[in-house]
Amino acid sequence: MEKLVFATHNKNKLEEIRNILKDWDVVGLRDIGCETDIIEDADDLEGNAKIKANYVTVNYNLNCFADDTGLEVEALDGAPGVYSARYAGEGCSYHDNVVKLLDAMKGLTNRKARFRTVIALNINGEQHLFEGIVNGRILEEEHGIGGFGYDPIFQPDGYVETFAEMPMEIKNKISHRGKAVAKLAEFLNFLTNKS
Ligand code: IMP
Repeated sequence: MEKLVFATHNKNKLEEIRNILKDWDVVGLRDIGCETDIIEDADDLEGNAKIKANYVTVNYNLNCFADDTGLEVEALDGAPGVYSARYAGEGCSYHDNVVKLLDAMKGLTNRKARFRTVIALNINGEQHLFEGIVNGRILEEEHGIGGFGYDPIFQPDGYVETFAEMPMEIKNKISHRGKAVAKLAEFLNFLTNKS
């Protein structure tokens, strides 16, 4: 099986991807001896995904992919976007971010938002980008205790539940990350069947 690095330290993300990309030997940063916290200082999701994938390709000469996700709120001109993880400040909690966003949207009637994931794949000397989007709206208060991040206030279009109220299997099927990963898997399967 061909080795493919997923540029992450997150064990849950790694496990999830291994279950999808079964024909590949998917390893994380720690598995290749990389303990570095790669600085993600680009001003968009594409830039951050590329920084992480390129870091591995340049320093380890291995095929690699990396992801970056943001919540983009229409009435806030796409904020928090690339800053979603640290919207309420460096070292803030998921809950701090939710509180800050609810506050920033107080009184706004346009509640439209979307999650967007970008995956950058460096393979055989080429770079490919994959994008997954889920449209929805930001509620005025938290609902549900599942998931993480902004899940308790994000209601995907076509559902009465928030991400935090849904079984994980359903969220994974319709989510930004689920869609981006499905595109990545389709492309990698195409490469495998070609060779
Ligand atoms: P990352 O690029 O996957 O680390 O995501 C960046 C930030 O976006 C996270 O710290 C969360 O605040 C938010 N986020 C990403 N994915 C989700 C999700 O599925 N639900 C809720 N929030 C998310």
